[in-house]
Amino acid sequence: MSSSGSAKPAAHTRLPKLSERHIDPMRYPEGVAYMDGQYLPLSEAKISVLDWGFLHSDATYDTVHVWNGRFFRLDLHLDRFLAGVEKLRMRLPFGPAEIIKVLLNCAGLSRLRNAYVEMICTRGTSPTFSRDPRQAQNRFMAFAIPFSSVANEAQRRAGLNLAVSEITRIPPRSIDPAIKNYHWLDLVRGLYEAYDRNADSAVILDFNGNVAEGPGFNVFAVKAGRVRTPALGVLPGITRRTVFDLCAELNIPAEAGDLGVTELRSADEVFITSTAGGIMAATRIDGALVAEGKIGPITRTLTELYWKKHEDPAWSLAVLYAD
Ligand SMILES: Cc1ncc(COP(=O)(O)O)c(C=O)c1O
Repeated sequence: MSSSGSAKPAAHTRLPKLSERHIDPMRYPEGVAYMDGQYLPLSEAKISVLDWGFLHSDATYDTVHVWNGRFFRLDLHLDRFLAGVEKLRMRLPFGPAEIIKVLLNCAGLSRLRNAYVEMICTRGTSPTFSRDPRQAQNRFMAFAIPFSSVANEAQRRAGLNLAVSEITRIPPRSIDPAIKNYHWLDLVRGLYEAYDRNADSAVILDFNGNVAEGPGFNVFAVKAGRVRTPALGVLPGITRRTVFDLCAELNIPAEAGDLGVTELRSADEVFITSTAGGIMAATRIDGALVAEGKIGPITRTLTELYWKKHEDPAWSLAVLYAD
């Protein structure tokens, strides 16, 4: 140990008492979780510090929302989750039909009509703390919490101010972005950078300096009636996919391809998409107005249709509540 530290430890003469169980001083939101065959208040759902999901971000997850008592596009979220689990060579304790039942139960038991519902599979732990991931027992869990949004009410009304970050999003050759993951250190750094610059959130760039995505959202720009979003190095968001579906229905041209920062700054409209909030306008980039700084007509039309689709049984599934 270095002798240069100013604090000298006192003589260590007594050990503390070993507690039988953990008492958690933290407060958690309301909600219901599923773990190991049990439905629990969210405050009781805990994982081991030895779980690789925690120690190495070795996990995949998906988040779907419930709006007015109905899941939105659960089939697409489940497909993305199952594909991620397979690519990571993890095993789930049961199949898709049972997962849907668990998610419906979490939402129903939570009584939340507007909820954010997350399903997670972590690498888990091995009884010997083996370094070999094949020896870990994978863990599936899920929870429902009150709906939350990337943008608050005021930001939603005025449009967001996004800061273009200096940070490069983790490249797709390192982490396949189609596997929804918790590799968020670049995104969190971007958020702090944005807050330091009085912006609401961040746009992170890809390894070529083009727009990638933000902390929990995809980015779109509209120019001369055409909608464009980055193709590479981003999570294929379900809301992003929904925008393509809505554009097809509305005969609005939409494409995925490189989106330069200059293109973003000079767009007619900019919006972001996420399960956490849907379609949300950005009216300033680094404080400078996007066009006239107002929420544009294509963003408005898409947003309206997006929320209307939440009532459509072809796109949504009702939750069973006790009351
Ligand atoms: C990094 C990242 N990009 C994009 C999104 C948006 O995806 P979705 O529309 O499926 O919520 C998310 C959602 O959490 C995300 O974490």
